[in-house]
Amino acid sequence: MKKYLLLFFAFSSLFAQKKTIDQRVDSVLALMNLDEKVGQLVQYTGGFDTGTRTASPKQGQIELIRSGKLGSLLNIFGAQQTRKVQKIAVEESRLKIPMLFGLDVIHGFRTTFPVPIAEASSWDPKLVEKSARMQAIEASSAGIHWTFNPMVDIARDPRWGRIVEGSGEDPFLGSVMAASRVKGYQGDDLAAANSIAACAKHFAAYGAAEGGRDYNTVELTERTLREVYLRPFKSALDAGAATFMVSFNEIGGVPSSANPFLLKKILRDEWKFDGFVVSDWNSIGELVPHGIAKDLKEAARLGINTGVDIDMEANAYHRHLADLVNENKVSIRDLDESVRRVLKIKFRLGLFDDPYKYCSADREKKTIRNEEMIKATREAAKRSAVLLKNENHLLPLKKDLKRIAVIGPLANSKVDPLGPWNQQGDSADVVTVVEGIKNKINGKAEIIYSKGCTIDGKSKNGFNDAVAAAEKSEIVILCLGESLTMSGEARSRASLDLPGVQNELAELLQKTGKPIIAVLMNGRPLTINYLAENIPAILETWFLGNESGNAIADILFGDYNPSGKLPVTFPKSVGQVPLYYNHKNTGRPNNPAHQMYTTSYTDFTNAPLYPFGFGLSYTTFEYSNLSLSKNKISKEESIIASIDVKNTGDLEGEEIVQLYIRDLVGSVTRPVKELKDFKKIYLKPGELKHLEFVISPDKLKFYDINMNFTVEPGDFKLFIGTNSVDLKEAAFSVLE
Ligand code: GLC
Repeated sequence: MKKYLLLFFAFSSLFAQKKTIDQRVDSVLALMNLDEKVGQLVQYTGGFDTGTRTASPKQGQIELIRSGKLGSLLNIFGAQQTRKVQKIAVEESRLKIPMLFGLDVIHGFRTTFPVPIAEASSWDPKLVEKSARMQAIEASSAGIHWTFNPMVDIARDPRWGRIVEGSGEDPFLGSVMAASRVKGYQGDDLAAANSIAACAKHFAAYGAAEGGRDYNTVELTERTLREVYLRPFKSALDAGAATFMVSFNEIGGVPSSANPFLLKKILRDEWKFDGFVVSDWNSIGELVPHGIAKDLKEAARLGINTGVDIDMEANAYHRHLADLVNENKVSIRDLDESVRRVLKIKFRLGLFDDPYKYCSADREKKTIRNEEMIKATREAAKRSAVLLKNENHLLPLKKDLKRIAVIGPLANSKVDPLGPWNQQGDSADVVTVVEGIKNKINGKAEIIYSKGCTIDGKSKNGFNDAVAAAEKSEIVILCLGESLTMSGEARSRASLDLPGVQNELAELLQKTGKPIIAVLMNGRPLTINYLAENIPAILETWFLGNESGNAIADILFGDYNPSGKLPVTFPKSVGQVPLYYNHKNTGRPNNPAHQMYTTSYTDFTNAPLYPFGFGLSYTTFEYSNLSLSKNKISKEESIIASIDVKNTGDLEGEEIVQLYIRDLVGSVTRPVKELKDFKKIYLKPGELKHLEFVISPDKLKFYDINMNFTVEPGDFKLFIGTNSVDLKEAAFSVLE
């Protein structure tokens, strides 16, 4: 008998291997009752204990799991904790369907990497992919199957706090970063124990909230929606993103959580997306205050019928979906489609084959904050900083300095460099600027630290101490910016100024006559006009994570030549916002020579403080010999643009060579320039590289007057340079 049993199991497992995932999904679906189907579409948060910094299922959730009525939890982590919960699902429920554990791994699980807008400043897709890969390796070792990331929202309004979570204002750069993060999280094989499912969010146009106010109304044409806000999502999907998350906002009267245009026409019909869609936190429930659902039951009907597969925390599906099906307001066919999509991801993650594959306490212990993680986050941090100013080569600092003042509310902060959404990041792991400089100079100089003031307080009581520190020193490193709670979700600001009395502190220190280097830590562009006009050196570091201080010291002392470029425009005034480089020309383009009757202000300039793509190096680069392979092409032909870039300084360095294009005349108005490609190159002193960019027809396409995505004949300009303003120019034409 035993022999036959062994044969049966051998055959069935062989047969199981032969069965496709779709077939395996269908075989599970066929066994499920209505409650169990609804359960796969329900997600709740576990309860987080701030004391132990751990989370566990809340009261009643265990029973729901046991009865197959809860298929996914967020905020539950830890190899042991997730094993305990998974055990209930796969050993005590009727069908033993494994749980899915999701978490906001936005820039790290326990090892904190630079915030996303910082990593976007590296313009280094491989680095960003590596960073996401390391985050996935660490988070998966702690039982996480799925991250609610990458956030791919284009943001043109720095008042919006969530600009920190994305890759800035440009759809091309945003698309490159989106694909890098998806590949990093999901790796080469989603079934690998160190891969986690990615989630492209927030679908869609969340960053276009009016007034930069989080959750606010969005009004966009379909053309702008497609050409700006949807492109990074398509890039994430093309990179294989397993899931999408809808956004809180409405677009033109239709909230994303019940938006057939987004979720059916675009996502399913046009893009053929076969993953699942999760709501944002209670976003199904928010259809009621949005005013398109009279109650939660109606909200549930709208959500599921539009294509939101999983309800995160609204309790709408759990309470009403079964009734809606029984009342024929939701078809069992549609319900099954949603369940299929969820089960398919669980199969693709390998959870049916081994539900405990992510639950190894031994692997977790060896992975969390290991040397490789710390090295990777320091590497990412170095490459994410942007040098905004360096008068008279004040930087890099000489290592023979004897007395250095490190001043400011962010000089020795253990918490703020973690940035928002730092998940299990621990301030104890943060290397502050003071600590990083001490590590760097290793006792050969005296560090005098003075806080000077708080980040947003009004008190100037610390000013005298700060001045005294400066007067005793040869150089001042002044660390200013925002706290980590001033950006992120629900953190929009009406002002972009340095908070509190930080500007006054800078002015006072400026009067000492000591050379000052400003180190900025912030989650959004700031109107740092005083610093820009009066402080000789400025390094934008955003929030660089655990190794912040070491990375900043690497840069300040020249062990790394900063190579970052701004992924977002820095305005001079919040009154200019929205201010972005790829704007339209208008019928009365701004002309500084005569402002009147052109698109301008009577009391202020249109010019940004720092333009998109801006960033300096300790060395200098010279661009020459821009040439095109052709000046006239057909609509089907490509052009090769080539340029020489030379390192004309005496330090090695990296340069991000940017290529922009302008379509001069179209059936609709076109931006004055659009980023179409970039290359990050390394050059030794004196070294010259000849670069070639291929401009294929798809780089010239746009949505014409009839919303056809096409190339139109006409004249074009092509620009290559070191940022979106300092550019070499060429011209070509596309023939009829
Ligand atoms: C939040 C955020 C979303 C996050 C989710 C789960 O409200 O909008 O980005 O992934 O809830 O924490």
